[in-house]
Amino acid sequence: MIGVFDSGIGGLSVLMPVRRLLGDADLLYLADRGWGPYGERSLDDVRARVDLVAAHLIAAGARMIVVACHTASAAALASLRAHHPDVPFVGMEPAVKPAAAASRRRRVGVLATEATFQSELFASVVERFASDVAVIARACPGWAAAVEEGRLDGPEVEAMVGEHVIPLLAHRVDTIVLGCTHYPFLAPVIRRIAGPDVEIVDPADAVARQVARVASGLGADTGRSRTLRIQATGDADGVAALVDRLTGWQIQVESVRVGPPLGPVPSEP
Ligand code: DGL
Repeated sequence: MIGVFDSGIGGLSVLMPVRRLLGDADLLYLADRGWGPYGERSLDDVRARVDLVAAHLIAAGARMIVVACHTASAAALASLRAHHPDVPFVGMEPAVKPAAAASRRRRVGVLATEATFQSELFASVVERFASDVAVIARACPGWAAAVEEGRLDGPEVEAMVGEHVIPLLAHRVDTIVLGCTHYPFLAPVIRRIAGPDVEIVDPADAVARQVARVASGLGADTGRSRTLRIQATGDADGVAALVDRLTGWQIQVESVRVGPPLGPVPSEP
């Protein structure tokens, strides 16, 4: 079985292409909604939390894990691999490489969480793949929470998205990276504001292909019965309604507890 997780339902943007590509595999998705959003917490807190989430998925039978969250990948991918050397992990990395290759004006905008921008992973991706490109980073507090609440369009969402996309256009970017797995659900609004000439890059399909490559090396360990289970910390019914709305899957979401109850998100990072 393949475990997939995110701070909430954002990782569904990755789970959808994974499910399309890996028809046979058994999938267990955990929406860690009771503890999310991750992006406004410290990298250390996210790392500690994600360790518990991975242990939960492994105890439930996961033989590989997809970290369908840029923030969790940035905070914890290296430590997860060190703690669980027998379990392959596939994570997210801001898609700066394809964006830099696509940008004609050599000006790329990246939308992600504050925690992702503070990570070494982001710095190293920019250094490795975009040293000759202007990279304009915009942290988007509140976007993941809006998606979790099912607020995907309308004047308020338009204003929230415009606050970060319009400054990127002022910098004359021609390519925008969606560096958080929640943001593809805001892509119609982003596209409307950015206009038809700006390319929007979402790494989900490329990550799904990587998942398929790793899974094929594991053979029967990833399962054969096409089951999809979804678990949530926090409001499981709310997750089920969003899963239906965003993917069309009608699935009963299991409510689970992972680790100790959550502490509040600190107001000052
Ligand atoms: N979906 C997560 C990501 O890709 C983060 C959203 C959050 O929890 O802040 O970064």
